[in-house]
Amino acid sequence: MGKNIVVLSGSPRRGATTDRLTDAFIEGAESAGNFVTRFQTADMRIGGCLGCRHCFTEQGVCVQKDDMQPILDALRKAEVLVLASPVYYFGFTAQLKLAVDRTYALLKERMPVKRAALLMTCGASEEAAASSVSTFRQICKLQRWEEAGIVIAPHLHKPDEIDGRPELDKARQLGRDI
Ligand SMILES: Cc1cc2nc3c(=O)[nH]c(=O)nc-3n(C[C@H](O)[C@H](O)[C@H](O)COP(=O)(O)O)c2cc1C
Repeated sequence: MGKNIVVLSGSPRRGATTDRLTDAFIEGAESAGNFVTRFQTADMRIGGCLGCRHCFTEQGVCVQKDDMQPILDALRKAEVLVLASPVYYFGFTAQLKLAVDRTYALLKERMPVKRAALLMTCGASEEAAASSVSTFRQICKLQRWEEAGIVIAPHLHKPDEIDGRPELDKARQLGRDI
């Protein structure tokens, strides 16, 4: 049976390298009968977590009423979470990190997510994504998610530079196998 997959995408450059890598993943996942909901966090109004822990005492309800609500609703029904981002100063983009931090609202109730994957692009070598990979793995450990796969596409600058690269096939295959 098809799985519910939520993709949180963090590139502010629509249709560029990270989006193309993510498109390949989604193509593979949907071809295998899964259901994908993709959120472009850079186009959404998402505030930073206030650390008030209101969500901890009020059943996961966040005090901030913004575009994080549909993401939290989708994560309450998701079996797989995919984070997709370019490397910005050795980490995820700020736009993606805002959304990741706000999933704190679901920490206590535990979301049904069982597996997670990471898709990243960067301008330098793969090493530039090392901190993000480490962050991703620590989140998986904390949440008890199985690591489903990581695809990193290095040496990218222009939006279409990723076309024809093997990382697209890797992402597509990861989608099929997810
Ligand atoms: C603000 C900013 C910071 C970046 N920081 C890094 C970095 O630390 N390491 C790196 O290898 N590439 C860095 N890059 C390059 C991007 O990760 C790379 O070009 C990526 O493919 C862009 O993704 P996009 O096409 O989805 O916008 C940076 C780019 C920008 C705009």
